[in-house]
Amino acid sequence: MASAEPRVRHRPGPDREVFRDAMARFPAGVTIVTTHDEQGRPHGFTASSFCSVSLEPALVLVCLARTANCFPVFASNPRFAISILPESRVDLALRFAGKSADKFADGGFVRTPSGSMVVEDALAVVECVVDSRHDAGDHVILLGEVERVSLAGTGSPAVYVDRGFARVTA
Ligand SMILES: Cc1cc2nc3c(=O)[nH]c(=O)nc-3n(C[C@H](O)[C@H](O)[C@H](O)COP(=O)(O)O)c2cc1C
Repeated sequence: MASAEPRVRHRPGPDREVFRDAMARFPAGVTIVTTHDEQGRPHGFTASSFCSVSLEPALVLVCLARTANCFPVFASNPRFAISILPESRVDLALRFAGKSADKFADGGFVRTPSGSMVVEDALAVVECVVDSRHDAGDHVILLGEVERVSLAGTGSPAVYVDRGFARVTA
């Protein structure tokens, strides 16, 4: 379980804005990461920090900011699901990057047999059980052991680069 406070580091870091600008040049896919609280209410956020880690066992990771409203729910629920977004659902990426109280109210989600709310039109859905949580500065890395994968939709993936959404072209 992640500790409450990030570890203090003493090495001088790069200029914050230059670091942000450099990261903005790296194109990333876009996902919606979801879980639910003890009352069964779904919570989620837009994430581009998703990546695969290991094939055997199948492990993936996603990084979550400690400041996110949904952080306490992800810190306590051992299950989470990742929906890989097609470019046609960039509206969901914007909705889940915002702070609205009920991001699920406008629909677009289905419940999986294991109870996760996932994007109806997702290119793929990856359902996980938390393997471990790792402190990582102002974020926590959620390392998930993959329980179930479905290849749902088709089409081009949503891509985030240069602080905006881009289209993948051949
Ligand atoms: C394209 C995109 C990618 C993002 N990736 C991440 C991410 O990997 N980790 C993260 O903590 N926040 C990420 N965010 C920001 C969160 O989605 C945003 O802070 C969200 O509001 C957090 O949810 P909550 O505070 O309402 O719970 C991203 C935002 C966008 C637009």
